[in-house]
Amino acid sequence: MHLQLLLLLLVFLAGGSIVWSTLRLGISPMPTGRCVRATLLALAPEVEGELHELGAGWGTLAWALAERFPRARVIAWEASPVPYLFCWLRLWAQPRANLTLRFGDFLTGDLRSAALVTAYLWTGGMRALATKLDAELEPGAWVLTHTFAWPGRTADRTARAADLYRTPVYLYRAGAHPPPLK
Ligand SMILES: C[S@@+](CC[C@H](N)C(=O)[O-])C[C@H]1O[C@@H](n2cnc3c(N)ncnc32)[C@H](O)[C@@H]1O
Repeated sequence: MHLQLLLLLLVFLAGGSIVWSTLRLGISPMPTGRCVRATLLALAPEVEGELHELGAGWGTLAWALAERFPRARVIAWEASPVPYLFCWLRLWAQPRANLTLRFGDFLTGDLRSAALVTAYLWTGGMRALATKLDAELEPGAWVLTHTFAWPGRTADRTARAADLYRTPVYLYRAGAHPPPLK
């Protein structure tokens, strides 16, 4: 009985934490679907060096990227405690030598040495991120997003996933098109 109560309390706390983080960050830890992930990986350029997955959620893209880019160092950011804890346990169960998890807001992180940035966010999240990408990315760095575009930029390449929504996937190159004048 005590164990059941404890489990119920844990489920309640985890659920509450996810709802609270979703309200705070503007997006839930919804994972990228299989079709979209395949399209995104097919569109990804060959990179080495640092790769930042901005908002890891349950690690769907982080693990796929670590496998797809064995010579890159994948840094997966997550600010929501429950998905972060899940990824932490997942890394223990499914270790990837080139994958590092970072708990915290990627907007406070340093993206200056990123060779590739991936993000699946929302309109407001992409707007906040755009300012950071414009300020920090080295010319030539790649940005790969899906569903929501990098506002104010024209994608270098676009693909559509073969899912129900024909989800758009965008590939950008920093410095290729200057941001529009404000
Ligand atoms: C839609 S999910 C995408 C998860 C994963 N990237 C994928 O494609 O499967 C977005 C994730 O970004 C996280 N997130 C949103 N804003 C963030 C921020 N500023 N810093 C860190 N994580 C953030 C959310 O908590 C959520 O888990």
